[in-house]
Amino acid sequence: METKIVDEKQIDICAAEIQKGNVVAFPTETVYGLGASAFEKEAVKKIFEAKGRPSDNPLIVHVCDIEQAKEISYGWNSEIEKLVNHFWPGPLTVVLPKKDCIPYEVSGGLDTIGIRMPKSEVALKFIRECNAPICAPSANRSTRPSPTKAIHVYNDLKGRIPYIIDGGSTSFGLESTVVDCTKEGKFTILRPGNITKEDLLQVVDNVEIDAGVFKEAKGKVASPGMKYKHYAPNYGVDLVCGEHADEKIISMYENYTKQGKKCVIIIGEGNNLFEGLNCIEIGGDLNEYSRRVYDILIELEGKVDVAIFKGVKESGVGLAIMNRLRRAAGENIIYS
Ligand code: TXA
Ligand code: MG
Repeated sequence: METKIVDEKQIDICAAEIQKGNVVAFPTETVYGLGASAFEKEAVKKIFEAKGRPSDNPLIVHVCDIEQAKEISYGWNSEIEKLVNHFWPGPLTVVLPKKDCIPYEVSGGLDTIGIRMPKSEVALKFIRECNAPICAPSANRSTRPSPTKAIHVYNDLKGRIPYIIDGGSTSFGLESTVVDCTKEGKFTILRPGNITKEDLLQVVDNVEIDAGVFKEAKGKVASPGMKYKHYAPNYGVDLVCGEHADEKIISMYENYTKQGKKCVIIIGEGNNLFEGLNCIEIGGDLNEYSRRVYDILIELEGKVDVAIFKGVKESGVGLAIMNRLRRAAGENIIYS
């Protein structure tokens, strides 16, 4: 199959493709998604095939307004309305009981679905033209870092999907915050994102963070996606945390270099300790870090054997960054 990269002027062609039961990759403000009509189970299966994704890992359903969200889910109350009125369109996914019109292929066999209304104008226009809610995971091969540019999608999925809508670089760079809204009066963050616990607490009371967010989760977890290997590029990733991280990073770097390995250090705020070493300093604040982290992970492929990330403070957006870095590093997390 030939994979074409098109621009938003060709959204109509892509929407027609969705209506024929096929998949199309499209930009959102977080990462690129691989979409299909959430009503068509045969189309949904094509998403799992193209990605090589385990079928019990549920998909997020993207809607173009709140009415469309209510057509596919139950359990709405004034608190949930307040949340979505405040954060939609935007990177917030609410998990609610699903209606029968959404097949179990979308929810990975669960009775609930994640729903969000993306902020990207291209995404909204695409969903409207499709005339159906669009279920979409990130548009990468399973286990790989999520794509923040059309070319990332192309390199991962060429030959497997017909169209990619190019909307430029995504503005947030990390996937949406997923919040379980199925327990009356209680909101649980299943996956952290750019909308933080503190942001949610501005609008509703009683927000907690699922324990799985903090670890490399195994076995049964609230958000099935959390149990799989994720975000891994084709080189080694180390994550170094703790008070003595800088010294540890330098000694690891020297060891790798002695072994003849091409090594890079990735830090947020710079300090001159790393002068003369191969080091990427993201700089700016943690939002800038989150915007660039997948891009850096992907674009170092073919250039290095190992990347050493210095951990960032685990609060605010830092929680989402560390959640992804831990999972990209897998076993290679060093406390020093
Ligand atoms: O920003 C995003 O959310 C991007 C863009 C494309 O919208 N999408 C995305 O999808 O990240 P994906 O499939 O890569 O991640 C979906 C996450 C998984 O961790 C999954 O477990 C969780 O959402 N999820 C989806 N439905 C769920 C449900 N019913 N219950 C619990 N977790 C759910
Ligand atoms: Mg993903």
